[in-house]
Amino acid sequence: MTVKDSRGLVMTGADAAAAEAFDKALGEFQCYVGNPVATIEAALAETPAFTMGHILRAYLYLSGTEGPGIPVGRESAAAARKGQPNDRERQHLAAIDALIEGRWDDTVAMLERLLVDYPRDILALQVAHLFDFYRGDARNLRDRVVRRLHAWSPADANWHALLSMQSFGNEEMGDYARAQALGEEAVALQPRDGWGWHAVAHVHEMRNDPEAGIRWLEPNSGHWGPDSIFDVHNWWHLALYHLELDRLDEVLRLYDTQIRVERSSVVLDMVDASAMLWRLKLRGHDAGQARWSEIAAAWEALIDDGNYCFNDAHALMAFIGAGRHDLVNRQLATLRRSAQQGGSNEVMARQVGVPVGEALVAFESGDFAGAAERLQRVRTIAGRFGGSHAQRDILDLTLIEAAKRGGDAQLLAALATERVTNRPNSPLARRYRDAVATLPRVA
Ligand SMILES: [Fe+2]
Repeated sequence: MTVKDSRGLVMTGADAAAAEAFDKALGEFQCYVGNPVATIEAALAETPAFTMGHILRAYLYLSGTEGPGIPVGRESAAAARKGQPNDRERQHLAAIDALIEGRWDDTVAMLERLLVDYPRDILALQVAHLFDFYRGDARNLRDRVVRRLHAWSPADANWHALLSMQSFGNEEMGDYARAQALGEEAVALQPRDGWGWHAVAHVHEMRNDPEAGIRWLEPNSGHWGPDSIFDVHNWWHLALYHLELDRLDEVLRLYDTQIRVERSSVVLDMVDASAMLWRLKLRGHDAGQARWSEIAAAWEALIDDGNYCFNDAHALMAFIGAGRHDLVNRQLATLRRSAQQGGSNEVMARQVGVPVGEALVAFESGDFAGAAERLQRVRTIAGRFGGSHAQRDILDLTLIEAAKRGGDAQLLAALATERVTNRPNSPLARRYRDAVATLPRVA
C-alpha cells in the first residue's frame, strides 16, 4: 500500500494513522507548539517501520544544535535505514548523516537538491531554513523558500509556514515592509505560528520601534505563548523592547517570570538568558549573582561539547557574569579546539567564535582596547556564526561600551554616531552620543 503525506509525497512504511501523526508533528514543529517529539515517537511505537517518522525524529533532535541530540539522531537514522527508503528519504538520510558529522553546509546543500526534486517537502524546507539561520545565510533564509513557491498555493494547509519563513528571510535581508506584510498574513492564517509572530517582532526591533513591538507581542501572547517550545525567545524579544525603553524592572520581571521561569536546559532558551543578562551588565545593571549562577550552571553541562560556537559565546557570557574563571577558561579552550576540529563549526569558530570569545574575556578583564580591536574586526562578518541581526547586536553593544569604558573618545564618537543614526529612538544610543563630550579627546 502506497501512503502519501498530505503534500502528496510517498512515505515508506507508513499507514494512514502514521501519516496522520506525521502531519500533526509537522504542524507542531512549524508552529513551535506542543510536543512534536512525543507525537512522532507515539506513531513510531505503533509503526516502527515508518521511515519518515524516524527521519523527522532525527531532525527534531539535531535541529537544536545540542551535542546530546546527536546520538539520538544517529539512532533514528539507523532505524530509518532498516526499511527500504525511497529516493527522497535516502536524500534526507544523507543530509542527516552530514548533520551528525557537523557538516552543516553539506546538509543544506543536500536539502537544496532534495527541494529542487521535491519542492513540496516542507520538512526539508524548514530544516534547511533553521540551518540557514544557524549559518547566518540571510539570502537563503528568504530565497530558499521563494524557490519552492511554484509548487505551492495559498490553498495549501501549510501555506502559513511558507509565509512566516519568507517573512523572517525578508527581515534578515532588510526588506522590513515586505517582511511585516508576510508575517502578519501568516499569523492571520494560523495564529499559533510562533515563527510568524517572531519574524514581525524582528521587524519592529530592526526599525527601532519598541512601542510597536510591544503592541505586536504583548497583547498576543495568548497566541504565541501557551504550550510553545519557542515562547522564551518571543518573551526575550518583548523584554528587549522594554530594555530599549529603559524599563529595567519590566525586563527583570520578564526574565524571572518567563525567560528563566522553567530554568530550561534547552540551548536556544539559555542563549536568550545569557544575552539579556549581558546586555544589562553592559548598561551597568548587574542582575545579581543568583541569576548569573543559575544560567552558568545550566550551561556547564555543555561546556566541552564544542558543537556550535554561537552557543559557546553565549555560555561564555554566563561564566564571565557568574565570575567562574575556571569555566571561562574551559569554555575558551572548547572554542579554540572547535576552530581546528572540522565541520562547519570549525570555520565559524575560527572566523567569529574565537575572536568574540577573546573579546568578551578582554572586556571583563578591563582590556577595553583589546576587546574593541577584536570586535571591530569581527562584528560585520559575525553573520558567519549565525543568529539574527538582533542577536548579534550584542557585539555592537559590547564594542561601544568598551570604547566608553576605555575612554576612547574618538572611537566612541564614531560608534555613537553610527548607533544614534541607525537607532534614532534609542535613549541608550543618545546617552552614548552625549558621553562623547565627557571624555578627554586626544588632539
Ligand atoms: Fe529572534
